[in-house]
Amino acid sequence: MPSLSVFGAQWGDEGKGKIIDLLARGADVVVRYQGGANAGHTVVVGGTKYVMHLIPSGILHSEKINVIGNGVALDPLALFAEIDELTGRGVKIDGTNLRLSSGAHVIFEHHRRIDHAAERWRGVGRIGTTGRGIGPCYADKAARTGLRLADLLEPERCRVRLTAALAEKNALLRDVHGEEPLDLDQQLSRYMALGERLKPYVGDTGAEVRSAYREGKLVLFEGAQGAMLDLDHGTYPYVTSSSTGTDGIAPGAGFPARWIERVLGIAKAYCTRVGEGPFPSEDKGPEGDRIREQGREFGATTGRPRRCGWFDAPQMRYTLELNGADGWIMTNLDVLSGFERIKVGVGYRMGSKRYREWPASLASFEGLEVDFEELQGWNDDITAVREYAELPRAAREYVEWVEDRVGVPIVMLSVGPERDQIIPRRDAPQFHVLA
Ligand code: GDP
Ligand code: IMO
Ligand code: MG
Repeated sequence: MPSLSVFGAQWGDEGKGKIIDLLARGADVVVRYQGGANAGHTVVVGGTKYVMHLIPSGILHSEKINVIGNGVALDPLALFAEIDELTGRGVKIDGTNLRLSSGAHVIFEHHRRIDHAAERWRGVGRIGTTGRGIGPCYADKAARTGLRLADLLEPERCRVRLTAALAEKNALLRDVHGEEPLDLDQQLSRYMALGERLKPYVGDTGAEVRSAYREGKLVLFEGAQGAMLDLDHGTYPYVTSSSTGTDGIAPGAGFPARWIERVLGIAKAYCTRVGEGPFPSEDKGPEGDRIREQGREFGATTGRPRRCGWFDAPQMRYTLELNGADGWIMTNLDVLSGFERIKVGVGYRMGSKRYREWPASLASFEGLEVDFEELQGWNDDITAVREYAELPRAAREYVEWVEDRVGVPIVMLSVGPERDQIIPRRDAPQFHVLA
C-alpha cells in the first residue's frame, strides 16, 4: 500500500509537474493538498505543453483519479478556466477523474483584489505575490470567516456567509485601499452559479483517498511551491501562505501523516526564485542571465523572469531533512551544459559570522552571502542521454559531488522537459516501480 510525497525543495518551479506526470503512470490517485492557482506546473508531451495551476499534474492520464484536497485555496473561476482549456485540448475531465474536497476554501474576487491592494500597500516591503488571492484566502480560513466549497453548494448558506464576508471586505477595499467596493448581488449570483457547476466534482475526498489507500492503490501527493516558500520554515515573510512540504499533507488532504511511506524532493541542478525575498546563491551577473536564457526561466503562472543562481547545498540539506526525504530528483541538468565552471554554495557568511548550515533562526536573511566552490563544467548536449554511464564524466562528477554534499541519494536526473528525458539511477531501486 504505497504512498509517495513529492515536494519542491527550493523556491518553487523545480519541475514538479514533469515529475508528477511521469510518476503518475505508476500511481492510481494524485492529490494536491495546499496552495492554489499560484502554482504553474508544466508538463510537455510530444512537444505539446500543458500548464496545470490547480488541477493535479496526473490529469493527462485519463484513468487516474486527481484530487484537490481540503487544504487547497480553490478559485472556482480559475478552476473552470483550466478545465475548459484542458478539455478543449482533448483531456478528459469529469466528476469521476477530478474530485474536489467539500472542505477546500474558496477564493473570491475580493481575495484577488485585496492581494493586489495589499502588495501596493506594502510598498518596498512587497512580497511579489502571484496576485491569485492566496494569502487573503488563507487569512480568512484562519480567522474562520472563509467559505468552503460545501458552503457554495448550499445557496442560502452561501448568501448569508458571503454577505457577511463582503460587508467587511468592501469596507477594507473602500476605506483602507481606496478602491471601488464589489457589488453584492453580482458576486452572489456569480458564485452561486459556480457552486451549481461544481456539484458533480465535490465530495469527501479525504475519505475517498484513505479508502483508495486501504484498497492497496498507490497515492501520490503533489506539493506546490517549494520548501523555501513554506509559511513556517521558509524565508518569512517572503513566503507563500501554506505548508508546502510533506507536513502539509495530513491537514491538507485528510491523510494520516504516518501513512506516508516515501518522500521525494525535487530540485534543479541550479536555483531559481520568482518574486521578492532572500536568495543567497543568486547570480545577478551574466552567468545568472545565461542560466535564465538556457533554462528559459520565465514564470509558468505570471510570465515573470525568474531570478537565477547556483545550487545551494546547505539549503537543500535543510529542506530535505525537514521533509524527511528518502531521495531526490535533480532536474534541468541539461541547462548547465556549456558552462566552463559551475558554482555550488557550501556555506554562508553574515558580516564576520560563518554558517555551515541554513541559518533558519535569523530574523532576516538579507545580507547573507554564500561561500561557493567551483566544479568543472561540460560542453556536450546531454538531452538525449538516457543512461547514467553515458553522461559526460564532468556531469557525473558534478552530480555525485552535489549528492555527497547533500547526503541524500539522487534517484533520477531530468535532462529536458519531455516525459522521456529522464535518467534513472540504477542504484536506487526502491523508486523504479514508479517510473
Ligand atoms: P513546477 O512548478 O515545479 O512544476 O515547475 P515549472 O513547470 O514552473 O517550471 C519548470 C520548467 O522547466 C518548465 O518549463 C518545464 O517544462 C521545464 N523542465 C522540467 N524539467 C526539465 C529539465 O530537466 N530540463 C529542462 N531544460 N527543462 C525542464
Ligand atoms: P509552483 O507550484 C514559484 C511565490 C510568489 C511570491 C510568493 C508568494 O509553480 O512551484 P503567493 O501568490 O503564493 O502569495 O506568492 O511565492 N510563488 C511561487 N514561486 N513557484 C510557485 O509555484 C509559486 N507560488 C507562489 O512569486 O514570491
Ligand atoms: Mg511552477
